[in-house]
Amino acid sequence: MHQDGDTRINIAIDGPAGAGKSTVARKVAEQLGYVYIDTGAMYRAVTLRARNAGITADQPAKLAELVRSLKIELEPGDQGQSVFVDGVDVTSQIRSREVTMQVSHIAANETVRDVLGQLQRSLAARKGVVMDGRDIGSHVLPDAELKVFLTASVKERAMRRHKEIADSQKITLEQLETEIAQRDKLDEQREISPLICASDAVVLDSTGMAIDEVIQAIVKLSRTKLAEAK
Ligand code: DC
Repeated sequence: MHQDGDTRINIAIDGPAGAGKSTVARKVAEQLGYVYIDTGAMYRAVTLRARNAGITADQPAKLAELVRSLKIELEPGDQGQSVFVDGVDVTSQIRSREVTMQVSHIAANETVRDVLGQLQRSLAARKGVVMDGRDIGSHVLPDAELKVFLTASVKERAMRRHKEIADSQKITLEQLETEIAQRDKLDEQREISPLICASDAVVLDSTGMAIDEVIQAIVKLSRTKLAEAK
């Protein structure tokens, strides 16, 4: 059951790694009765399968063949979203450090982006989605009624990630800061649909903001856009 009658909008939430996009997007979707779609999870799923098949980012033809053959499905779960590849639940495996370290390289492949972009567009075709990623407002859903670019300082993002990691003793805050800055750079500098802030996006810097404040700010923006769309 959707709120606000039959009118639904699409909401794109983009931004760098660790800005809190997935938590925020999931909660916003919950409050609006919308579907949450974590596009980073899709890139992670392809990365996992590429790793398992021994395919690296410098083998574009093999990677293209692999991504075209995969069936990636997202299902709402208690802790966000469950991710299935060819029917196998890979939800926890795609969060490993190995996958995290490689995903930006795999995500730079043109066919990977094409195939996943098409899947993302098809999931948003009926509206009522909150989609988080890097290129959603700028490339995948340029017509999304609400685009948010969610960011925070590298230090704050590293601190949030550090708290999340169960075995955080194994990695220092400084290491995390370096990794996050590296990933930002790769995502921003890739040739195809890099991480950029769409010209019509609302920029939200969440440094020093509580997660609930961010969620409420986006819900409020959504209600305004919904009223406009009616
Ligand atoms: O949001 P995340 O950390 O799970 O994303 C994993 C990687 O996937 C990230 O380093 C960049 C890539 N990505 C992308 O290129 N485009 C998207 N729409 C989402 C993620």
